[in-house]
This record gives sequence, structure tokens and C-alpha cells, in this order.
Amino acid sequence: MRSRNAPGLEDAFNKRLLEATRGTFEIFSIYLGLRLGFYGALAASHALTSTALASRTGTAERYVREWLEQQTVAGILMVEDEAVEALERRFRLPAAYAEALVDQDSFNYLAPLTRLVAGAVRPLAAVLRAYRTGGGVPYDDYGDDLREGQAGMSRAMFLKLLGSEWLPAIPDVHARLMAAPPARIADFACGAGWSSIGMARSYPKVLVDGFDLDAASIELARANAKVWGVGDRVKFGVGDASDPHLAGSYALVAAFECVHDMSQPIAALKAMRHLAGEKGAVLVVDERVGESFTACGNDVEWMMYGWSILHCLPAGKADTPSAETGTVMRPETLRRYAMEAGFRGMEILPIENLFFRFYRLREQG
Ligand SMILES: C[S@@+](CC[C@H](N)C(=O)[O-])C[C@H]1O[C@@H](n2cnc3c(N)ncnc32)[C@H](O)[C@@H]1O
Repeated sequence: MRSRNAPGLEDAFNKRLLEATRGTFEIFSIYLGLRLGFYGALAASHALTSTALASRTGTAERYVREWLEQQTVAGILMVEDEAVEALERRFRLPAAYAEALVDQDSFNYLAPLTRLVAGAVRPLAAVLRAYRTGGGVPYDDYGDDLREGQAGMSRAMFLKLLGSEWLPAIPDVHARLMAAPPARIADFACGAGWSSIGMARSYPKVLVDGFDLDAASIELARANAKVWGVGDRVKFGVGDASDPHLAGSYALVAAFECVHDMSQPIAALKAMRHLAGEKGAVLVVDERVGESFTACGNDVEWMMYGWSILHCLPAGKADTPSAETGTVMRPETLRRYAMEAGFRGMEILPIENLFFRFYRLREQG
């Protein structure tokens, strides 16, 4: 029998549970700080009292004071003068943490993870029911925290890496996207649109059609495209990736971090194949989980199983029939889906990323 843990570790396990509790409180305390604008206000000043922070963020002083003290005891904030009266104490956000908590352009901006976690547990009662009945939980039930948390985590990567590193690493695709006449790109299940916007900004000629089943995500995507000045070349619409009536002809058909979420991934891959035709490229980017299940799964897999048990599997089972994939979609699973969709080849592209694996699906083996 193989297990991740050696025997005789009961004390260590108790310690681990206590640490996990501390981590959980930390996640939700950061969630509060993010949603209520506390970190932004603290980052914009040297140090603030609870009264000043409450007044700058339109919140109630007593709650703010408790949060400031909690953040300090948790080792996130620093207190300038702890011996003075509670209302006189001034708190500050160390510069070293500001990047992770307030700089949304940074690759190290991890604050949206806390929204993803909050979203993942929002329909906990429905998730419990689904485990008992075998049913699913609709994506929309996970709410704005999940969709905006996902968008916040994708944003910097898609805006900065997609067109400068990832697509240039696929030379024929990169060349076509640079060339005239303008190449058309289909972005399947685009969420809040950062991948579509990132591609449009990096390739000034391309025309992008992004779509997603989630209407609220499409509204966000449209607003984001406007802010980033690509609204004339990037069009977003509500649509189902597995719809057999999807039509068009595209030089690149891409699906970022979404095939594992789809109830009918084979139908979606068929649609991708159809839209790419003989000349277009089909790119699937999904989680970099291991080749096969092992008790000693790496840290990425540990994280992906966490999303899977709470969100991706229940959401993917909300529609029937469902392939019941879950976040941990292994390369062999995608290969099987791709072959069933009519592709003859699947190549894993040599693009390095901690979380993503890049697959190119081909008409030829
Ligand atoms: C994890 S999110 C990824 C969103 C975006 N591609 C990104 O990387 O930020 C998965 C997305 O798949 C969408 N989705 C799931 N099934 C879909 C389907 N059948 N058709 C279109 N979108 C779908 C969800 O609405 C959600 O926006």
C-alpha cells in the first residue's frame, strides 16, 4: 500500500490540521481586505489608524480595527506603535506583500486566489447534495467570486505571456497571426476575455471571436475589451462550445483552461476541429497535472484536486450527459477525447509553465 504519509505521524497530522485552519482564516481575511479595499488604501498611504482606514473605505471602524489586529497577529500587516491606545495605533502594509495583494499587473498578484476559494465554497450545501445524488452544481451558483477570481488570476498571464512567449513558441501559428490578411482567432470558453484581449493586443491585425456559456463572464469580457482599446477587433458572445452548429473559418482555435470544465468535451473538440478546418491550428491549454494517478502527486495536482472536488467536477456535471472530467484531466484523457473528436494527432508543445500544459491537436498523427 502506498500513501503520501509515513506511519506514526498523528501529532504531525494534528499540527497540519491546525495550520490548515490558520491558512483558511488567512485566505478569508485576505478576501475581506481585497473586497473592502483595505489593502489598496493601506498601500496608498504610509500607515493608517482603524478610523482612517474605515473612513477611506466606507466601512465600520470596529470591524476594521478587529481586522487590522488580526492581520497584524497573522504577520501580514505591521503595527507602528503597538503600545498606544487601540484607536491611535497605526498599521501599514509592508512593500514586500503589496505586489501579491494590490498589483494586478504582476505575475505575483495572488489575491484573486482568495476570491476563487470563496467562490468554490459558495454553494457548499448544493455540492454536498450533488455528492449524494450524483447531480451537478451550475457554474452560475459559484457566483462572481469564482468568475472574477478566475479572471484576476488569468489577467496578467494572458496579457503579458500569451503573445510574447507562448504563441511565439509555435512558429507557424505566430507567423500566421502576424501576417495579412488578418487572421481570425476563435477563443473557446473565454471567461472574462483576457486571453482574447491579450492576443489582440500582441497581434495588431487579428480578429478574435471569444465566447462562453456564462453570460456574466461575457459582459465582463466586453467591458474589459473596451478598456483595453480592442473592442473593434475582439467580439464576444454567449455560446456553447459543444454546439454542433458553430460555424466559421479560423487560423487559430484555442481553448484555455476550460476543456476539463465542459460537460461535453468531445463535442467541443469536434467544433474546434470544424472551425479550424484543414489549415487552422487547434490549441488546448489545460492543467499541468501528472501523466497518471500516484499517491505522491505534485503540488500542482494537490491544488487541482482541491478545485476539482469543490467546483470543476460538480460544475461539469451540471449538464447531462456529462463526461465527468474534473480539473485533473490527464494527457491520456485529452488524447482519448481528441481521437473521438476525429483528430489523428496530439502533440505536447515544449512551452514551460508551472500550471499549464500546451497541447496541439492535429488532423494527422
Ligand atoms: C476555468 S474557466 C476559464 C475561463 C478562461 N478561459 C480563462 O482561462 O480565464 C472555464 C470557463 O469555461 C466555461 N465553459 C464551461 N463549459 C462551457 C461550454 N460548454 N461552452 C462554453 N463555455 C463553457 C465556463 O463558463 C468558464 O468561463
